[in-house]
Amino acid sequence: MKTIIQLFQNKKNKEKISVITCYDASFARLISKTNIDCILVGDSLGMVIQGLSSTVPVTLEEMIYHTKSVKRGSTNKYIICDLPFLSYHTSLENAVFSAGKVLKETEADAVKLEGASNKILEIITHLTEIGIPVMGHLGLTPQSYQTLGGYRVQGKDTKEADKIYEDALALEKAGVFSIVLEMIPSSLGKKISESLKIPTIGIGAGVDTDGQVLVLYDLLGMNDDFKPKFLKKYANLEEIIKNSLNNFHEETVNLSFPKPENSF
Ligand code: KIV
Repeated sequence: MKTIIQLFQNKKNKEKISVITCYDASFARLISKTNIDCILVGDSLGMVIQGLSSTVPVTLEEMIYHTKSVKRGSTNKYIICDLPFLSYHTSLENAVFSAGKVLKETEADAVKLEGASNKILEIITHLTEIGIPVMGHLGLTPQSYQTLGGYRVQGKDTKEADKIYEDALALEKAGVFSIVLEMIPSSLGKKISESLKIPTIGIGAGVDTDGQVLVLYDLLGMNDDFKPKFLKKYANLEEIIKNSLNNFHEETVNLSFPKPENSF
């Protein structure tokens, strides 16, 4: 299993880091048999598992439920769990309670928080000082998609780009061990990655970040209608799954399943 030290080593040796989201034990078991470096139990589960239109309604209890399942399926991957919207924003106590509950109940290795406002920096400093490993998240931060004007590329103009750059430096100073950079220009992804000692993990942030993360269901092509520019589909499971289900239906109605070898 990767440790934070090895992730730092990866960056030093210019070896890219692969991160994939996961929400259940079956996929976690499969991921455990691959070379993927880390698992992120993302609050994207609100969209891909729960069918919500954003991550905002996802609760701490739901994150814990899914992270426990992932942990049961995988014992050999570094697991990061997203803290959901409003589970860490209201006070230091609120953040310690939520992050502590996640680590104690799920045995995940780290938590991920979005943003770098003064309040969030104070929270991250506190969490890391008391021994809770924290991953940051900048650029398009889905929990604040409303304030950002929707799901759009961030840091396109100089002022916005400078702010994201400064935020990345501040997050490193606050103690995060890594930062997800989501939907920012490749040039900004490169600049941030070259300026930080900690590894950056990009999603729509170009090839120069220290690693890449994708949502598992997106990478596997589970939804034909979802085609953001940053996504590469490595499989077309929507087609495979639909065909398999239609074949099962067909064989059920024409009595070609079950066969004697499937019967007692
Ligand atoms: O929730 C999530 O899956 C994420 C990744 C897209 C980085 O935050």
